Amino acid sequence: MLKQLDQIQETALAGLAGVQDESSLEAWRVAHLGRSAPLMGVFDQLSRLPKDERPAIGRRANQVRRLLEAAQAEKAVALRSTALRRSLESGRLDVTLPGRLVGRGRLHPSTQTLRRMMRIFSEMGFQVYRTREVETDEFNFQLLNFPPHHPAREMQDSFYLAASDPENPLVLRTQTSPGQITFMRELSARCPHNPPPVRVILPGMVFRYEQTDATHEVQFNQLEGLAVGQDITFSDLKGTLSDFARRMFGQAVRTRFRPSYFPFTEPSADLDVGCFLCGGQGCPVCGSNGWLEVLGCGMVHPTVLRNGGYDPHEYTGFAFGIGPERVAMLYYRAEDIRSFWANEMRFLEQS
Ligand code: FA5
Repeated sequence: MLKQLDQIQETALAGLAGVQDESSLEAWRVAHLGRSAPLMGVFDQLSRLPKDERPAIGRRANQVRRLLEAAQAEKAVALRSTALRRSLESGRLDVTLPGRLVGRGRLHPSTQTLRRMMRIFSEMGFQVYRTREVETDEFNFQLLNFPPHHPAREMQDSFYLAASDPENPLVLRTQTSPGQITFMRELSARCPHNPPPVRVILPGMVFRYEQTDATHEVQFNQLEGLAVGQDITFSDLKGTLSDFARRMFGQAVRTRFRPSYFPFTEPSADLDVGCFLCGGQGCPVCGSNGWLEVLGCGMVHPTVLRNGGYDPHEYTGFAFGIGPERVAMLYYRAEDIRSFWANEMRFLEQS
């Protein structure tokens, strides 16, 4: 039997010398180390051998098995390195080729603009507060001094949600101004007798059912601002917004306040910025007059202060609502507001 084991070893090693690839190596393993290999037959017969022969035969059989397993492992390493060498030789590598550019994500230009604006107001001491996008008619209009059927509601054609209470329907907010009430109520509920001063900005998306053009979209951001306290005046409003325009667009920016109307502020104004696109000469974006409206503002109406829990005899305040996409148009010199939501990569990649 010892001779048989010598024979098994010799045959297996001779077979291994002819193995050229991994699949033949596997076939070799099954043939020489698998369950039905002759070597395994020797292990099966061990128990039937005379007792005194068993140790020597068992030792030799184990030795052959270890030797064949080691030879198999060595062959596997050799085959792998041969395959690697062949593939390196056949595939030429030109290390002088330029690398492929990795596409990097970026924030949407509206988000970048909104963040820039929020940073400016944060530096002035305003805190950011977020409110809901789906509002009730009561918050979006009534508490802001738009009674039902008031003609000013037509300034902001609305998307109402079907299947809501006809007395107080749900609406996709047409402006961020309802956040004024939510925020003031939250503060005044905490200290009903002595509500603290307010200095807050409320960013978010608003929705209007309206005709689109180069400066009007149906969905756009607004950044609401609200400051309430004792002795706040219209000059505080003018100073804050003029300073914002300078910090946003640079010291040379031209601005003008125009009288306007909002039911929730009195007096009210719009702020225009000199059109950068045409340098004030007039173009399709600024409607040929050289100015682009970027925000509405005014002194908070006493009714709104009262609805927020602030006594209008003690407190005054100013509020504003800026259109970040209009600001972004001036900042990036974009000619059409509709580009912001058209998902055009060439436009989005420029910011
Ligand atoms: C309002 O929405 C008021 N809530 C703003 C306000 C807040 C006034 C607080 C007083 C006190 P207005 O509809 O004008 O106002 O919109 C404000 C700004 O949003 C505009 O100046 C403009 O920059 C932007 N805006 C308005 N409509 C559109 C639109 N369709 N597409 C893009 N931006 C718009």
